[in-house]
Amino acid sequence: MDTHQTVRTFTDFFRERGHRTVTGTSLLPPPTDPVLFTTSGMHPLTPYLQGRPHPQGRRLLNVQRCLRTTDLDEVGDATHLTVFEMLGSWSLGDYGHPQSLRWGYELLRDGFGIPRERLYATVFGGDDQVGPDNESLRTWQELGVPVELTGDDNWWSNGPVGICGPDSEIFVWTGDVPPRRTPTTDPRWVEVWNHVQLRYHRHEDGTLEPLRQPGVDTGMGLERLVTVLQGRREVYETDLFEPWMRTIPSLWDLDERSTRLVCDHLRSSLVVIGDGVRPSNTGRGYVLRRLIR
Ligand code: ALA
Repeated sequence: MDTHQTVRTFTDFFRERGHRTVTGTSLLPPPTDPVLFTTSGMHPLTPYLQGRPHPQGRRLLNVQRCLRTTDLDEVGDATHLTVFEMLGSWSLGDYGHPQSLRWGYELLRDGFGIPRERLYATVFGGDDQVGPDNESLRTWQELGVPVELTGDDNWWSNGPVGICGPDSEIFVWTGDVPPRRTPTTDPRWVEVWNHVQLRYHRHEDGTLEPLRQPGVDTGMGLERLVTVLQGRREVYETDLFEPWMRTIPSLWDLDERSTRLVCDHLRSSLVVIGDGVRPSNTGRGYVLRRLIR
C-alpha cells in the first residue's frame, strides 16, 4: 500500500463511521498559543476538545503536519522524524475510549491487513492521582491483543498545563514471526497509534480537574504506518522518501546516519519555510536555523 492509499484507507474508514474531515492547519499555531509549532493532530482542535462546539460535529478526522523538537535527539534512527504527518480521529464527547480502541483494531486488521499476532498494546497503569485504566485493559483482552499495564508512561498531554489523560499505545511487530518480547525490550515493536482519553485539565499547581465533556483523541504517525505496511524497517525506505534517498547520496558522500539526518532536516526545513518561517536568532526562526545548520 503506497502512502496515498494508506491515507485513503484511514479517511474512508472513519468517514464511514460518521467522522467529518477537518482541514489540516499550518505548522504555526495562532499568536495566542505559547507553543512554537503544531505538535499533534489535536493541537489545533484544543478549544473544541475543551468543550466548544465544533461546526463539523462531534466526530472528526484529519491529516495534520506536525513538528516535534522534543524528538530531535532521536532523529537519525529508523523511525523518528522532526516533521511528520499525523492521521487523527476524535470524539468530542461522543463515543467512548473502548469504541475507539475497537475501531482502531478493526482498521489495523481489516483495513491494513495487520494480523493480531503482530499487535501489542500498552495501557496506563495508574499513578498517585489517577487509577489504572482497567477499562482499556479489558477491551484489549476481549479483542485478544496482548496488552501490558505500564507505570505512568501511558499519559498524554500537550504541555505542562491543559487537557490531558491516560492513553493506550498500539505497537506493530516489524521483525520475523513470531514476535518476541515486548515493546519495552525489543525495538522491532514500532509504536504506530496512540489513543488518548482526554478526561482532565491539569492546572498550574499540578491538580487535575475532570473535563465536563471527556473526549477521545487518536494520532497515528503516517510515515511509520507506511513503513510497517511496506514491510520496511526504516521510514527512509518507503515511497515517501524515495526521491530524497535517491538524491542526497548523489550530492554528498555521507554515512547512513548522516544521510538520514540530512534528509530529515532538509525535508523539515522545507515544510517550515513553506509555512512562512525564515531563519533568525529567536523562536521558530531559530529552530529553522538549527535544522539547516
Ligand atoms: N495527541 C496524541 C499524540 O500525539 C494522540 O500522541
